[in-house]
Amino acid sequence: MIVSFYKLKFQTDNLYLHNSIIAIFVLNFFMKIKNICCIGAGYVGGPTMAVIALKCPHIKITVVDINKERIDSWNDSNLEKLPVYEPGLADIVSQTRGKNLFFDVDIDSAIKNSEMIFIAVNTPTKTYGEGKGQAADLKYVEICARKIAEISTSDKIVVEKSTLPVRTAEAVKTILDKTGNGVNFEVLSNPEFLAEGTAINDLFKSDRVLIGGDQTESGMLAINKLVEIYENWIPREKIYTTNVWSSELSKLVANAFLAQRISSINSISALCEVTEADVEEVSKAIGMDSRIGSKFLKSSVGFGGSCFQKDILNLVYIAKSLGLNEVAEYWHQVIKINNYQKIRFAKNIMKSLFNTVSGKKISLLGWAFKKNTNDSRESAAIYIADYLIENGAEIHVYDPKVTYSRMLSDLNDLGTRTTVKNRESLFYHNTPLPACFKSHAIAVLTEWDEFKTYNWEEIFDNSIKPAKLFDGRNILDKKKIEAIGFEVYSIGKS
Ligand code: NAD
Ligand code: UDX
Repeated sequence: MIVSFYKLKFQTDNLYLHNSIIAIFVLNFFMKIKNICCIGAGYVGGPTMAVIALKCPHIKITVVDINKERIDSWNDSNLEKLPVYEPGLADIVSQTRGKNLFFDVDIDSAIKNSEMIFIAVNTPTKTYGEGKGQAADLKYVEICARKIAEISTSDKIVVEKSTLPVRTAEAVKTILDKTGNGVNFEVLSNPEFLAEGTAINDLFKSDRVLIGGDQTESGMLAINKLVEIYENWIPREKIYTTNVWSSELSKLVANAFLAQRISSINSISALCEVTEADVEEVSKAIGMDSRIGSKFLKSSVGFGGSCFQKDILNLVYIAKSLGLNEVAEYWHQVIKINNYQKIRFAKNIMKSLFNTVSGKKISLLGWAFKKNTNDSRESAAIYIADYLIENGAEIHVYDPKVTYSRMLSDLNDLGTRTTVKNRESLFYHNTPLPACFKSHAIAVLTEWDEFKTYNWEEIFDNSIKPAKLFDGRNILDKKKIEAIGFEVYSIGKS
């Protein structure tokens, strides 16, 4: 770079151009990012910053949060107590924490001392007012923007890491510019595509990194700063830079397309169950077409997680607000099929138990929305348990990672019943056998690998007969389990 700079210097007679090149060179050197602050120490902020810290030992990263308990857990010397469970995460935290990765509640200092600030706070579906039940609640993002504006005394690059509705950057920039201390802010969109349970691998080997920014000189300079960070481990051809609006919208669209594939195959699973077709065979057959591809065609009890439903509802809301009702209705159908799939599964359990679950023990294996995470947000298990409890069942749950208090608050958040009734109907077990002991039906709701290796003969011997098993993930060997004596219901199989 230095050589080409001097070549340029001697080649040009134009003094003005020469000075500008020096200015950009010097600016670029001194503006190298050395300090990053990330606001939000959740499932995205924690793992993403841990990986950046590992790959960029020359950058100091401070992850801040208003939730002191969460920060304390990130700082806990017992790595088992980290607030986010992700395979490989504890190891990275142990290598970086206290060296160039810090977790803190002092938000002001972290903002003040950083050249680049990531906003990775939650953007849940609104539960009140205009857009209730669909629009994204941007209050936490707005609070961050106002805080950054108030605290900053030097230029900052503000990076939207949270998933946000298209054109949010405009609002963020307005708040920063109108309420700030006259410093210069550049706003970038850098949505996160990691999936929980595989977050570390996804961050190490991202399919792509998307960075949207203003197509101005200063905007391009800011984009470049972020590109430089990712280039420490992501090949340049996988870093795609766009305008801000394309980047913001692409995140919502990526999630909508992924969820749409699951709802599509789940809708076909209902058809399979009454036609003697097998959804796994159908899925494989269509997935072998390279134009369709085989990923995200695994029929299930319904997708969960904090992103798919929230982001599609947000897309639906945006389309509706812009008068695009057909577009809104198209995407809304993805959510409707998902709700149908969850309740269809719960209704099948009840139907098979002679149309009543009142006073019966139903065992749920798995509460997390997918394997290898302790996250249960929007998990299908919550809706299935709620339906069965409402119909009088006693629910006994075993999950390798989700805690009882999490399960209870998931149910309480639905608001169907009193907390007391939920507590009386939901029983937690920290080992699987007691959870399944003397139950009328067992349902596998998360695809944890350990469920495949249980001693199903022993579980059968201790079940109330006829012993019923509902495989909501199609992970068990149906023929083998049937040979033991269970009546097995699998998704999308007659
Ligand atoms: P999370 O709820 O796990 O974490 C968000 C954190 O932000 C919380 O700890 C909260 O206390 C903190 N916070 C909120 N307001 C704050 C403020 N004003 N100051 C400081 N801290 C504040 O959420 P998450 O799952 O990490 O998701 C964050 C964003 O990333 C969301 O927009 C989400 O849609 C998006 N996203 C999530 C995933 C995922 O797999 N979870 C993947 C991609 C994108
Ligand atoms: C998703 C996106 O995949 C990720 O790119 C984005 O950043 C956040 O949202 P996540 O929700 O963490 O990630 O997990 P994902 O693997 O997408 O699974 C979501 C849900 O769909 C889970 O409940 C999972 O069990 C279910 N699923 C997934 C299926 O039912 N069938 C499939 O074929 C794939």
